[in-house]
Amino acid sequence: MARHLRPPETLAAWRRLATLAAEPRAGEDEGRFASFSRRLGPLLVDCSKERIDQDAQSALLDLAAQSELADAIADLFAGAIVNDTENRPASHMELRKPAATAKRDVRETRKRFLDLAEKIRAGAYRGSSGKAIDTVLHVGIGGSHLGPALAVDALAPATASRRVRFLANIDGAATANALADLDPATTLVVVASKGLTTLETKVNAEAVKQWFAAAGARDPTRHFVAVTANGEAARAFGVADEQCLPMPDSVGGRYSLWSAVGLTVAVAIGRAAFEDMLAGAHEVDAHFASASMRENLPVLLALLQVWNTNFLGASSHAILPYDHRLRLLPPYLQQLEMESNGKSTRRGGEPAGTHTAPIVWGGEETGGQHAFHQLLHQGTRAFSADFIVCARPDHNLPANHDWLLANCLAQSKAMREGRSAGPAHKRVPGGHATTTILLDELTPGALGALLALYEHKVFSSAMIWGINPFDQWGVELGKTLADSIHKQLRTDDDWSGQDDSTRGLLAELRRLR
Ligand code: F6P
Repeated sequence: MARHLRPPETLAAWRRLATLAAEPRAGEDEGRFASFSRRLGPLLVDCSKERIDQDAQSALLDLAAQSELADAIADLFAGAIVNDTENRPASHMELRKPAATAKRDVRETRKRFLDLAEKIRAGAYRGSSGKAIDTVLHVGIGGSHLGPALAVDALAPATASRRVRFLANIDGAATANALADLDPATTLVVVASKGLTTLETKVNAEAVKQWFAAAGARDPTRHFVAVTANGEAARAFGVADEQCLPMPDSVGGRYSLWSAVGLTVAVAIGRAAFEDMLAGAHEVDAHFASASMRENLPVLLALLQVWNTNFLGASSHAILPYDHRLRLLPPYLQQLEMESNGKSTRRGGEPAGTHTAPIVWGGEETGGQHAFHQLLHQGTRAFSADFIVCARPDHNLPANHDWLLANCLAQSKAMREGRSAGPAHKRVPGGHATTTILLDELTPGALGALLALYEHKVFSSAMIWGINPFDQWGVELGKTLADSIHKQLRTDDDWSGQDDSTRGLLAELRRLR
């Protein structure tokens, strides 16, 4: 697409922002919460602890206008080719439309995998020996793992989450662990892989197949379901057509939770809850598609990301969930943000003239307070952070929850205000930019809304930086190199093409094994 290709640093608003960032900000306090927080369905997003004022906000909105962000959003929803390098639209929003407006193929696939999930939940899906399936082993990696694992952890009651297991890592220790104490007669394997060419998933799926064979399973056909855009590879692996659920080509792996990849989530939480999750995400889609830039929450979060990254020097962004159930949010958002926007080439092919995605990291709180917060409070680097917390817990331990909430608010306050009193080693500089996302409670709808909010923030940031958030060519080189090294490790003595370090390590490995 020819549009949205103006380098951001050439825009007048960019220059204005650079000037504003160099001036000391007044840091007004009164009325900040009213000015800089917004509600969207079950989410309250409080940006009043960001390092922003009305001047900066208005220059950021000018940047959105000069970047033609509203047009880019319209293009996304219109199904334009937003993924230029793969010549595809990005259609994950189609997957969460309600039945009344969803496309026929989306409706049909949703019905198929939700029917299957309900059958498994009811104990009515039987394996080849006639025994009911009681466990799902989900094999997949990256986007075919992180979203489902997060959603199961966040939403499934303990009894249900025990019925599903995830296998992502190619490390045989993970494979052995996942299979330990499973009964092949009552296990269903969901092989989730958009391309079904992903090494980890192929190797693990093969290992699981052999595990069935070793257990003497007569016909494991009923024990495998594939979720993929590559039906041919599924067939070649031995999955029957009726056991194969499609994934659209136009949905990227890290945007695929809403597709049949969510089968495992639906087994854990049920059809109604899964549909609520879709509805929560759809509500955010509708907001993103229609709200003005000034009111558009994903856009505002993207503008803050640009402000923090490109003007205030933040090189990393911490995801701090004050909720045990959201402990997998940091790795999920690492893929969403870093695989989408970790790019240094613009959509026209020229180098990006600005920084793009920050390093995203984080961890479950309050554990982080006793580990990495020391650096956050007194280290030397600028960062930004999101605090995520629920007003109402799902347990009956109010004393715990009150302390959790108090710690969440205390940490963001300390990061903003710091402490100037006392000797140097006790001073805390403060001045860090943070956003707090407060969920009423962690319902399926609220989780759907939260994840869609981040998805659209990532898209909006990408449009301002002028990069394609929907491809991931940077991961290909390592895959190719692993192929030749794998051969050299096992059989091939011709290492002449290798660098000295790799040759040395190969020799040691051959000697030690
Ligand atoms: O290697 C990166 C990647 O392609 C991710 O984008 C994707 O989520 C993951 O691998 C898994 O891909 P697949 O679903 O095709 O197995």
